[in-house]
Amino acid sequence: MGPVLCALSAAEASASGKVILLGEHSVVYGQPAIAIPVSTLRARAWVKPGPVGMGLQIEAPDVNRRVRLAEAAADDPLAVVPRALLQRHGLAEPDGWLTVRSELPIAAGLGSGAAVAVAMARALLLALGHTPDVDEVSALAFEAEKLHHGTPSGIDQTVIAWERPVFFVRGERPQSIAVGAPLDVLIANSGVSASTRAMVSGVRARAQADPETYQRYFARIGELVLAAREALATGDVRRLGALFDQNQALLQALGVSHPRLEALLVAARQAGALGAKLTGAGGGGNIITLIEPDQAEAVRNALLQAGASQVWATRLEP
Ligand code: MEV
Repeated sequence: MGPVLCALSAAEASASGKVILLGEHSVVYGQPAIAIPVSTLRARAWVKPGPVGMGLQIEAPDVNRRVRLAEAAADDPLAVVPRALLQRHGLAEPDGWLTVRSELPIAAGLGSGAAVAVAMARALLLALGHTPDVDEVSALAFEAEKLHHGTPSGIDQTVIAWERPVFFVRGERPQSIAVGAPLDVLIANSGVSASTRAMVSGVRARAQADPETYQRYFARIGELVLAAREALATGDVRRLGALFDQNQALLQALGVSHPRLEALLVAARQAGALGAKLTGAGGGGNIITLIEPDQAEAVRNALLQAGASQVWATRLEP
């Protein structure tokens, strides 16, 4: 039996952004990492049924793109999720429009690619009459991540698909995290964009050249992540801040920091933040800084003065 034709209904869905609290890069090599969703920054997708025979047209106005699914290249990031989803369900290309928009900065470590993929998967599943299942959504978005990143650990689309804080080990089911006290985090954009694929492959090349040193760095970061899980559970924000700083020193050693990120980290610490580090692939993108609630304004102002293009606040509740 060939693919089944299924009419679309109108549907819409969204997906959060994410920040990695600790453990980026080493997570690619099997070490644990901790990530939280950023629910205030979202990608959204809409499906609208169209006339019979039009096929599926995918539109991403933020990046000025419009493509017909049937004509999209095999490696077109906009086509990966719809193709994988239709194939999984044995469906023929439906007729209509799939539009995606995102509030998340692109190539900035906040999971914009994964959020767009998750929002697309959810909207299309709904439009085809399915209730989006978190594991299926994550698996579909992982197909897009492989295209963006080359060898992703899977942490980005996992935390976004689950939309809850996760303790993540590559290839394993995510575990939830106990949070003992509210956690206030500022996220600051350096305004420098960087390709995750390039940053991940740079670390890989350096790790291949000096495996012993890099395995030691990765293992040490893994230990910091375990300590951070404890600190989160007991609500020890000072300890967690110190762990952010130690993780940053190791990320610097991995070669993924950037002078513009360093300037933001210095500014946050001088303004009294409990700890600060880059988040995501680095090379640009965003930093995160852990603060006491009454420091928010001072740290935000310091970050803006040090050149942050945008600052967002997020709070993790117990
Ligand atoms: C990117 O958000 C996180 C990295 O660890 C890559 C990955 O885990 O796939 C740099």
